[in-house]
Amino acid sequence: MQRLGIYIHWPYCKSKCPYCDFFSRVQKNVDQSAIIKSYLADLEYYRSLNDDYRVESIFFGGGTPSLINPQHISEIIDKITALWHYSDRLEISLEANPNTDDGRLFSELKSAGINRLSLGVQALNDVDLKFLGRTHSLNDALASIDSVLQNFNNHSIDLIYARPDQDIKSWQKELKTACSFGLKHLSLYQLTIEENTVFAKKNIKSADEEKARKLYAVSEETLFHHGYNRYEVSNYAQKGHECHHNLGYWQGYDYVGIGNGAVGRFHINGKLYNTFYPRQQELITPQERAEELLIMGLRLPEGINKKRFFSQCGIDLNDVISTAKLQQFCRENLLIDTPETLQTTASGNLILNYLIEQLINL
Ligand SMILES: C[S@@+](CC[C@H](N)C(=O)[O-])C[C@H]1O[C@@H](n2cnc3c(N)ncnc32)[C@H](O)[C@@H]1O
Ligand code: SF4
Repeated sequence: MQRLGIYIHWPYCKSKCPYCDFFSRVQKNVDQSAIIKSYLADLEYYRSLNDDYRVESIFFGGGTPSLINPQHISEIIDKITALWHYSDRLEISLEANPNTDDGRLFSELKSAGINRLSLGVQALNDVDLKFLGRTHSLNDALASIDSVLQNFNNHSIDLIYARPDQDIKSWQKELKTACSFGLKHLSLYQLTIEENTVFAKKNIKSADEEKARKLYAVSEETLFHHGYNRYEVSNYAQKGHECHHNLGYWQGYDYVGIGNGAVGRFHINGKLYNTFYPRQQELITPQERAEELLIMGLRLPEGINKKRFFSQCGIDLNDVISTAKLQQFCRENLLIDTPETLQTTASGNLILNYLIEQLINL
């Protein structure tokens, strides 16, 4: 029986952040019951296509899924566990925004079945929170973190760095504060100015490349010193607290995507499909699959497991990438190639996108 992750996407937010181009919109009077009903029906539909899976993780992402009534969260979890076999260590994560915390939110989410909470804090000072267009203050964030720690054993916060003019010392101070909370996991995302966002229209620039690299290096060093290992480009965890769901994406395991902003990778009659809303399926070719496995797998310091790679796409990793480029990057200490794995070095990780582009471009 193959393992499966389930991603439930909630496309609504209380307000739109000026940097964000995720599929989300601000809408009052959302008919939650009707949407959840359609989600439950979609879960049944996917199960009718393949029941030979064991669910290992459920992830409520967004948008802002902490706007979903906890009663509905529990209906979705109940439906999933009734439809498929599931792991006795089923990880059930939810992304929450502090601006939805009414003081009862986290205990209600816990009662609904959530066992891993990821809080979108973004910055640990009021000036930058305001700049990022967040509607919570530092005190609101701290109160939410407190409540998350009280209610969950597995937790994370998101922070955005490489903000314009951000200096290394103040970022280091924020990182130390972040490490002092005792959270099991931290996600640190480099500010990206995405097309058509308010930031792009205002011509706001994130920190320049060299500064961003320094901020990244400081992040890795500070977090390592405080007991957090980087296990993906932007993700750090105490040992054993990596996000199992997201690891599934990077390692190429199957998942169902529910909601109009979600996609999936799902086997039907032994063939792998890209699935998307509304109940659409598109066959993935071995070459497409190989390329996405390369792009995802090199994000992990452990790299790509060649045996698993072959079992997931039917092509040898060495047949997908340029041998000349591979040899060059190994000589330049950017990649490490062994019979079992292909992985980046610390310097390779800093120019990951360039490496991938060059490797695939045969
Ligand atoms: C899908 S969002 C959902 C989180 C939740 N809605 C919130 O804002 O608290 C996941 C994370 O992506 C990150 N993110 C979104 N847009 C970004 C951007 N343009 N640059 C860097 N990080 C970004 C933020 O850290 C955010 O918490
Ligand atoms: S960052 Fe989160 S709250 Fe802000 S618009 Fe994006 S999904 Fe919504």
